Amino acid sequence: METKKSLKICCAVTSILLLLLVITLLILYFTVLKPKKPAVVATPVGLDHIDFSLRPNVSLTLSIRMNISIKNPNYAGFKYENSSASIFYGGDFVGETPIEAGVIHARSIKNISTVVNIIANKVIGNPKFFPDVFKGSLNMNSEMGMEGKVILLGIFKLHAKTHSTCDIAIFVWQGNSTENCNSKIEL
Ligand SMILES: *[C@@H]1O[C@H](CO)[C@@H](O)[C@H](O)[C@H]1NC(C)=O
Ligand SMILES: *[C@@H]1O[C@H](CO)[C@@H](O)[C@H](O)[C@H]1NC(C)=O
Ligand SMILES: *[C@@H]1O[C@H](CO)[C@@H](O)[C@H](O)[C@H]1NC(C)=O
Ligand SMILES: *[C@@H]1O[C@H](CO)[C@@H](O)[C@H](O)[C@H]1NC(C)=O
Ligand SMILES: *[C@@H]1O[C@H](CO)[C@@H](O)[C@H](O)[C@H]1NC(C)=O
Repeated sequence: METKKSLKICCAVTSILLLLLVITLLILYFTVLKPKKPAVVATPVGLDHIDFSLRPNVSLTLSIRMNISIKNPNYAGFKYENSSASIFYGGDFVGETPIEAGVIHARSIKNISTVVNIIANKVIGNPKFFPDVFKGSLNMNSEMGMEGKVILLGIFKLHAKTHSTCDIAIFVWQGNSTENCNSKIEL
């Protein structure tokens, strides 16, 4: 009789402890370990170089400076694949800068400062080019996508796909630019 009773108590205590352990793990998972989406913001920050002339021939040399910030909010590393920031003019691809694969440590921000060289022939060959030149500005967009994995204790691997876009107006006669990022992600 006595052993049966103590066995019951033992069982109950064990169950309670197991339940507490499960609850603790669940709370830990949803607060600390739950993978959160990294944020990528690629912002054009001005012209690195511009050379434009209509005579004797139409010529354009253009490169745009971009600052890229990647924020990893996780309590684990974010491993990202080879990616690139691209520039489009009138919907056509006109240049990109490669971002080599890497790792961002837990809860940190990595800033990359880079330059995109624009493929001039693709810009000059666009039907929008001459009308835009006479209006005074070339309107381009930048786009940045990144894919990677959040590695949590080597158990969970989550894909994170992030995107950011900006509009850039290039004033070819003044040789400067304005940038407007409508999809700005808070860092
Ligand atoms: C302008 O273009 C013409 C014909 O395409 C070429 O012969 C000439 O060398 C070019 N001039 C310059 C300054 O690039
Ligand atoms: C872009 O990055 C460079 C180098 O990190 C920094 O000096 C500059 O202030 C940044 N520009 C902007 C607009 O954040
Ligand atoms: C990433 O880029 C580097 C250098 O450009 C290259 O050596 C490597 O093979 C690329 N990795 C993948 C998975 O494409
Ligand atoms: C990276 O950029 C962000 C936002 O532009 C800034 O708040 C942060 O201080 C920068 N970090 C480093 C290490 O430069
Ligand atoms: C571009 O340059 C012109 C003159 O050089 C100046 O008046 C204008 O304010 C500049 N615009 C921007 C966006 O910096």
